[in-house]
Parts: sequence; structure tokens; C-alpha cells
Amino acid sequence: MNRRPRVCLLPGDGIGPEIISAARRVLEALGEFEFEQLPIGGVSIDRNGQPLTDEVLDRCRAADAVLLGAVGGPKWDTTDPGAPRPEQGLLGLRKGLGLYANLRPVRPSPALLGASPLRREVIDGTDLLVVRELTGGIYFGERERRDDIARDECVYSRPEIERIARVAFESARRRAELGGAPRLTSVDKANVLETSRLWREVVAGLAGEYPDVALEHMLVDNAAMQLVSAPARFDVIVTENMFGDILSDEAAMLTGSLGMLPSASLGGDGPGLFEPVHGSAPDIAGSGQANPLATFLSAALLLRHGLDRPVDARRLETAVEAALEAGLRTPDLATGAEGERAADTATMTAAVIGALGD
Ligand code: NAD
Ligand code: IPM
Ligand code: MN
Repeated sequence: MNRRPRVCLLPGDGIGPEIISAARRVLEALGEFEFEQLPIGGVSIDRNGQPLTDEVLDRCRAADAVLLGAVGGPKWDTTDPGAPRPEQGLLGLRKGLGLYANLRPVRPSPALLGASPLRREVIDGTDLLVVRELTGGIYFGERERRDDIARDECVYSRPEIERIARVAFESARRRAELGGAPRLTSVDKANVLETSRLWREVVAGLAGEYPDVALEHMLVDNAAMQLVSAPARFDVIVTENMFGDILSDEAAMLTGSLGMLPSASLGGDGPGLFEPVHGSAPDIAGSGQANPLATFLSAALLLRHGLDRPVDARRLETAVEAALEAGLRTPDLATGAEGERAADTATMTAAVIGALGD
């Protein structure tokens, strides 16, 4: 790319604007980008009466990559089925860009092994990837509220399952290039749900094309348990939209905090969407205490997967690691251990920029 890459920034709500402006400074320290900042979520409801306008979606489509903070908050929380919700903006963006594959890598930083509520020896050796289906299932089925009855439909088709399963099989293969044998755990609820039985059948049907990948099927309740009892046993996990949402927040705690987990949403023929896994954290919004690292690590995924700049991506990830090695801890990461240095968003950002080197 000879011209400067175009990056759409969607700060959103709550801590979103704080972490996105920090990420912008980090990206500016790494290279030259053309940024465009646009409203999504609650701020867009306030401004335009809807959480995602056609214009914002079009601008995102025309960009090289999209970096999002978070959407939602108590101001827009309502149980009125007719009212606009910030979260619809994010779902509309994912669907509108065709981003069916959400990659959530869980690789606890060595410096943070003591920051997790789980014991160090349980987490040690954990390096897993959650591949979450992102544009189907119960999130996008028909829904209805009638008198005192509500209904959410969960639908999956064979092609939808097949394409996400292929992403997972191929991710397992790619990860194994660095050593080790590729393993894939497909998570479902096939003992109860028809969609899960189709899921299992389709994933199993692809196994013959990937004989080098060891495939296992696991029920989601068991997977939730094993994620905290033996996380190091997992390599790549592939699962449907709703299970992936829940399991990835759980897996985030292996890294010490939800504020550490990045994600990349890919699969469309346009730009990818890069966003931290966490939400708008209304309880700490405006306090300057938000952990910006999940957003920085999402920016690293943007550089790697969105702009094909693996060297810059690595530089950023190494700088994050260096800031943690130096003892910097936002409140969500603090344990009171010796050598820790309390940091707010600004201090952490400055430390990461400082560690980028030349
Ligand atoms: P949340 O992820 O916003 O917060 C859960 C807890 O984690 C809170 O205690 C929060 O302070 C903490 N936390 C999260 N991110 C942090 C960070 N970077 N640094 C330090 N602490 C952090 O989840 P919630 O409270 O259930 O949801 C709040 C709002 O966010 C809701 O409206 C929800 O719909 C929305 N949400 C948005 C996204 C998104 O935009 N991708 C994701 C999840 C939730
Ligand atoms: C996430 C979030 C979203 C989801 C919400 C905000 C719609 O929790 O990205 O994990 O459920 O996908
Ligand atoms: Mn979530």
C-alpha cells in the first residue's frame, strides 16, 4: 500500500473514547495513517436516533480497517423492544461488513501470571484461540415479544458452519507452523440443541480434509469448566456466536483481566473490524483508569490482519509486554505485589509508546 492506510475509528460509549484516543496515539507513533472518527452505539442514537447510520457503515466499508472501542451503557438500557439499542449498532456493523469470523487469542502475558484469580500453575502454558461465529445463531434469528411471551430463534445453516469451521481448521494449522501438533476443539450443545447437532455433523465432515488437525467435540458446559481447570489443554476452540461470547469473557480472566483481551473480526470482502472483547465499562468511564491494553493489542491485530504490517504488529505487542514487565498496572491488573507501579490510562499509554523504540 503506497498511500496512507485509511483507518476508521469508532470510539462508541463509556470508556470507548478514552481507549480509542490512546490507541490512536500509539498508532501515530508507529506510522502514518489517515484516521476518520465516526459515531456508533449510544452516541449515534443521541445524535442520529439510530445506533449505526448507513453513512457510517458506508464509510467503514470504504476504509482499510476499522478500530472500535465499545458500545452501550445505562443511559440507553431499556427493556422496551421498540427502542433503539447501542448494541444493535455493533451487530449491524459486523453483519454489514460480513464479518463472520471473530478471533479472540488468549495468551496470558508472563508478567501477569500472578494477576489472574486462577493459580499460576493452572494458567502456565496457556495459549489458545477462540474462533467465534459472529453473524449467525441466536443473535440474528427472528425475535418476538407478544404480551407475556418472548422468543429468540437460533438458526444455523450448513454453509455458515462450514466457513467458520474452515477458518478454525486453518488457524490451527497456521499456529502449528511455529511448532506442536494442531488441535481443534469444537464446542456445542449437541445433547440438547438441533443447531448443535448440525454444527457437530458439519465440523466432523470437514475433518477428512484436515487429517493433520486433531479434532475433538466438547459440550459447552464441560468446556466452560475445563477453561478454568485445564486451560493449557486447548489450542483452537471453534464455537457458535452465543457460546463464543460467554466463553471468551471467561477465558479473558486467564490473562488477568477482561481489559487484556483483543479481537479481530474477519471474513468479509472489505475491511476487518478490530475491537477489545470487553464492553464500555460504565462503572469506570471518565475516571481515566481504563486499561487500554486490549485496545492496543486489537490495534496490533489490525496491523497484522487488516493492513498486512506484521512487523509493526509485533513491535506493538512487544511494547505492551515491556510496559507490563516494567511493572505498570492499571487498577484491574493490580495485585499489590512488589515491583508493581500503579498506572492510569495515560501513564500506560505513554509507557507503551516509550517502549516502541525507533
Ligand atoms: P464490561 O465489559 O463493560 O465490564 C465488565 C467489568 O470489567 C466492569 O467491572 C468493568 O469496569 C471491567 N472492565 C472492562 N473493560 C475494562 C478495561 N478496559 N479496563 C478496566 N476494567 C475493565 O461489561 P458490562 O458491564 O456487562 O457491560 C457494559 C456495557 O457494555 C453494556 O451496555 C454492554 O452491552 C456493553 N458491551 C459492549 C461490548 C462491545 O462494544 N464490544 C462488549 C461487551 C459489553
Ligand atoms: C462482545 C459483546 C457484544 C456481543 C455485545 C455488545 C453485542 O458482548 O463483543 O463480546 O455479544 O457480541
Ligand atoms: Mn461479549
